Amino acid sequence: MSLTIEQEQGARKFLSDLREEIRNHAGVGHSILGRMKTDPRSRFDFKVLAGQHFPLVGNFTRYMELLLLNAPDSEAKCWLAKVLVDEYGERSDGEDHAEHYKKFMHAAGHNPGDEDCIPLHPEVVSFIREHYRISTEEPFLVGLGALGPGHEWSIPAMFELAVGGLRKAGFAESEIAYWTMHLDQDADHGAWLEEALVKYCVEDGNRELIRKGALLSLDARERFWWGVTDKIVAESTRRNLPPGTSATSEQGQLTLRELRKTWHIEARLKE
Ligand SMILES: [Fe+2]
Ligand SMILES: [Fe+2]
Repeated sequence: MSLTIEQEQGARKFLSDLREEIRNHAGVGHSILGRMKTDPRSRFDFKVLAGQHFPLVGNFTRYMELLLLNAPDSEAKCWLAKVLVDEYGERSDGEDHAEHYKKFMHAAGHNPGDEDCIPLHPEVVSFIREHYRISTEEPFLVGLGALGPGHEWSIPAMFELAVGGLRKAGFAESEIAYWTMHLDQDADHGAWLEEALVKYCVEDGNRELIRKGALLSLDARERFWWGVTDKIVAESTRRNLPPGTSATSEQGQLTLRELRKTWHIEARLKE
């Protein structure tokens, strides 16, 4: 389908307004990120953050793979497939992004092999559940809005703030490569995405679906950052408790390993 000049201009205007809306969303400029320069975070805080953020990194490709199955045409599939190839490690020495993230976790103080044994704040679990729901139950364009603009346009802005805080906390560049490589890769993903989105953004109904997905994702993101903030406070308190005192804040919190055991995500024929 080729667009008239007016249609293309209208679509690009919508997309640039959406970018602006995302940049200003509370999930992107959350206070835990925005204050990293004035209120530096310790390595311990980043250890807690690392453990809560890992499940998001580890599940992201699965949402994308599910969305790919529902994509209506090869053009949309092409964007998803190109991003997936990066996620599988094409531009990171063959190591997928979750493996890369583990290096940061180890630098932050997690033991190799324990990455998926960390009790997760309920908002972390909710974020993942919401993205599986969006990528399997919502219309394709809502899913594209969540994983496209909701992720690729927000991550460089969030990670830039995080990288500032990580450097202040004393992490070496080699330890935070996961974060810095996303500044470039997601700028590319976001640009490819913009080209893939233009043709969908002519009709108002489609625009609403894409915007809805982006906002669903960012609303969940905002709650995720509140969860991380809460977890940092709880872990810092627990760390300072006198020996022998028990803290109960983790009771009932699931680990990623437990989630993987109990959640089953299927693609199957229904007749
Ligand atoms: Fe990634
Ligand atoms: Fe990306």
